[in-house]
Amino acid sequence: MVLWLIGCWLTLAVGAYSSNATIASPEAAAYDNYSGIGPSIRAAMLASIRTSWEQGTAAGGILEFDDPEYSVFGSSPFGGDGGNFPKSTLQLAFSAAVRQTPDGRLSQDIGDALDGAALDGASAGSVVLLGSFTDPSRSNYWLDAANAELNYILNVAPRTSTGAISHRADSRQYWADGVYMGFPYIAYYGAATHNSTLLQVAYDQCRLYRDALLIDGPTGKLWAHIYDDNGTWVDEGIWGSGNAWAALGMLRVAVTIQKTKFASDMIPQVHNLTSWIKEILDGEFAALLPSNLIPDYITGGPAFGDASSSAALASVAYRVAALYPQQFGRNYTHVAARVRNAVLGGVTNLGTLSPVVNPLVWNETGLLSTESQAFGLMMLSAWRDWTRI
Ligand SMILES: *[C@@H]1O[C@H](CO)[C@@H](O)[C@H](O)[C@H]1NC(C)=O
Ligand SMILES: *[C@@H]1O[C@H](CO)[C@@H](O)[C@H](O)[C@H]1NC(C)=O
Ligand SMILES: *[C@@H]1O[C@H](CO)[C@@H](O)[C@H](O)[C@H]1NC(C)=O
Ligand SMILES: *[C@@H]1O[C@H](CO)[C@@H](O)[C@H](O)[C@H]1NC(C)=O
Ligand SMILES: *[C@@H]1O[C@H](CO)[C@@H](O)[C@H](O)[C@H]1NC(C)=O
Ligand SMILES: *[C@@H]1O[C@H](CO)[C@@H](O)[C@H](O)[C@H]1NC(C)=O
Ligand SMILES: *[C@@H]1O[C@H](CO)[C@@H](O)[C@H](O)[C@H]1NC(C)=O
Repeated sequence: MVLWLIGCWLTLAVGAYSSNATIASPEAAAYDNYSGIGPSIRAAMLASIRTSWEQGTAAGGILEFDDPEYSVFGSSPFGGDGGNFPKSTLQLAFSAAVRQTPDGRLSQDIGDALDGAALDGASAGSVVLLGSFTDPSRSNYWLDAANAELNYILNVAPRTSTGAISHRADSRQYWADGVYMGFPYIAYYGAATHNSTLLQVAYDQCRLYRDALLIDGPTGKLWAHIYDDNGTWVDEGIWGSGNAWAALGMLRVAVTIQKTKFASDMIPQVHNLTSWIKEILDGEFAALLPSNLIPDYITGGPAFGDASSSAALASVAYRVAALYPQQFGRNYTHVAARVRNAVLGGVTNLGTLSPVVNPLVWNETGLLSTESQAFGLMMLSAWRDWTRI
């Protein structure tokens, strides 16, 4: 009886104090409960070999996890004084810049440097440009590297018949992956230099990629993986990671536009981006497996549970719930909590997410995926930031 009364009093007191605290507190406790796992996921990511898209994606994960004030979700994304020197982010950005090829592609000079990706190098573009205003002793070095990468994707990379920047350097192809690799950087450069043309280009590229890749699936409209502009599907499957890349990319473009002085002129563009993110979350979450993981493929490939795309989409759900609460209610964070618990429950004693899709063979599981480790950090960071709103 006494305990019951205390319980009632606590519920009432907490409820009266702040309605948000009653939602966030158990979540904050759950986040703290997992505090040991983040450094372990991070260390496994840094211990792995990283090719161009992995270098940029790893840097993006570290940025949100270690230096959140400088991410596009933070307080000082495009300059200003975030307070701390973003050392661990710039350590990854430095490797991307040192391994830039003369054509401008970041992180490209690995192995024979012949990886034919056009957009992947740009995944490190934002963190390289970040160096130009947070690391004064190398300011020009960072800016030159960032400018060369921007020039490559805008003026050198091939274009499709619609004007979309090809994901590949040796053909004209749309890959859902490219939406994360290239377009957030174009938007970020536009925001940092107050250039609304570039913000519009970033939006248009997302729109053109969606137009090319969107298909009807059993759980709604979702993105197929790869289309060649010559009229051939290279991978028409609805791949979990492909949809995750598209949602992650469009989210960064939307929030970047929103943090500029041009936001009021671009409300329809941001609205489209958020509705296209919602389309992906709705279709992918509706296909959730009994294990609470996203299937590797919904159509066109195997449906094994994939912690990689799961972590990425959970991160998106937490971010949109914090940024656009009217459009994305608690439903999305309720699903995200189930996905998150499933992902964290699968982390191995080496800190690796498991099971995950092999990043090079999309219909098989793999042992180690750098991108999945980065998605784990993005998920933890987005969850952490959501518990603090
Ligand atoms: C509580 O949440 C609402 C809506 O999500 C928000 O507008 C409000 O600012 C939050 N209050 C606090 C104290 O964070
Ligand atoms: C904390 O973690 C343990 C073991 O991983 C789990 O059993 C418990 O439910 C968690 N507590 C919270 C508040 O999430
Ligand atoms: C914006 O960026 C584009 C592409 O780099 C450039 O051509 C244009 O001159 C820039 N506009 C302004 C106002 O700086
Ligand atoms: C179209 O592109 C696909 C994939 O790159 C390629 O296999 C095929 O040969 C191309 N077809 C033509 C007619 O160029
Ligand atoms: C938003 O998307 C709709 C539907 O695809 C399209 O008709 C409209 O032109 C888009 N708005 C902008 C500003 O691109
Ligand atoms: C909540 O999400 C689930 C799974 O995506 C969906 O089936 C359901 O319709 C959603 N409910 C609301 C109220 O949006
Ligand atoms: C994966 O795809 C390849 C190429 O399409 C195919 O040969 C292979 O059988 C597939 N493996 C599985 C497990 O589906």
